[in-house]
Amino acid sequence: MANPLIPHSAVVLDVVAENADTSTFTLQFTEEEKKGDFAFQPGQFNMLSMFGVGEAPISISSDGCSPDTFTHTIRHVGSLTKMFSRLKKGDLIGIRGPYGTGWPMDEARGKDVLIVAGGIGLAPLRPAIYEILRNRGDYGKVELLYGAKNPGEMLFTRYFDDWSKDFTVHLTVDDSSEHADWAHGTGVVTKLFEMMDSTPKDTVVMTCGPEIMMKYVASGLQQRGFDPSQTFVSLERKMHCGIKKCGRCQVGTSFVCQDGPVFPYSAVANQPAKIVGALGRV
Ligand SMILES: Cc1cc2nc3c(=O)[nH]c(=O)nc-3n(C[C@H](O)[C@H](O)[C@H](O)COP(=O)(O)OP(=O)(O)OC[C@H]3O[C@@H](n4cnc5c(N)ncnc54)[C@H](O)[C@@H]3O)c2cc1C
Ligand code: FES
Repeated sequence: MANPLIPHSAVVLDVVAENADTSTFTLQFTEEEKKGDFAFQPGQFNMLSMFGVGEAPISISSDGCSPDTFTHTIRHVGSLTKMFSRLKKGDLIGIRGPYGTGWPMDEARGKDVLIVAGGIGLAPLRPAIYEILRNRGDYGKVELLYGAKNPGEMLFTRYFDDWSKDFTVHLTVDDSSEHADWAHGTGVVTKLFEMMDSTPKDTVVMTCGPEIMMKYVASGLQQRGFDPSQTFVSLERKMHCGIKKCGRCQVGTSFVCQDGPVFPYSAVANQPAKIVGALGRV
């Protein structure tokens, strides 16, 4: 049996700088039998490795219907991810995956969908957006609320006009003082609740961003009557194996690498914060 910890090699086909510290890499497996055969669920992640350096879990940010290539959108925050920032067309990296659970796309069919993202958190949600766009008739009212620190930190801005043709997009930034042309909201992403049309009835919520943001989003929506078992959050934990073998990502009785990263808010909200982090109870 093949060793599941051994990565497959993939070549960088394209690099797009999203902003000063985040890039999107288009990748393709180099082995013939893997090429054209990469299937994943929106919300799943891969383990990405620089040979001889290390590995990091990174969500897949592309459309699941193109099995030839896939993308990862990476914020260059630490030792490994800063090395990824130097990758260029033709370079090779290692990939294991896809791993983890995805966003509840089937559960959301026939219902309204509210997507709330902060900063890099839009990357794991982009495959869900593509899935909705490809099957627009299967979903009801769809709204995206997206916040970032400032306009320059927003991801995927080049797609917003297109997305706005099929669903409502509301944007906000913490600070717009250096962007006189900013025509959207100012303030934290929960401020956008005031202008959304989404209502608690038959709405599935998918949210991703810093844990403290997801906490305010999920609890704020709960106060407005949204069902916490229909509000889905994505947990970020340090990982080692990615396949439920090492225990590094364990929270309570769950392993984020296999049981998550997507969980219903109802499954984490009553767990102690010292186990589940900012999303839990203090
Ligand atoms: C399931 C899952 C999906 C993920 N998807 C993505 C993704 O799509 N894109 C992406 O860019 N990242 C994603 N991450 C986070 C990514 O795995 C980490 O940023 C990465 O492992 C950091 O590795 P490093 O060696 O570069 O940083 P390290 O050297 O380990 O850390 C260096 C410094 O950066 C800080 N740091 C680490 N992670 C973060 C962070 N996320 N934000 C801010 N500071 C941080 C550390 O606290 C430390 O101070 C995901 C994580 C998980 C668990
Ligand atoms: S990363 Fe090893 S058990 Fe989850």
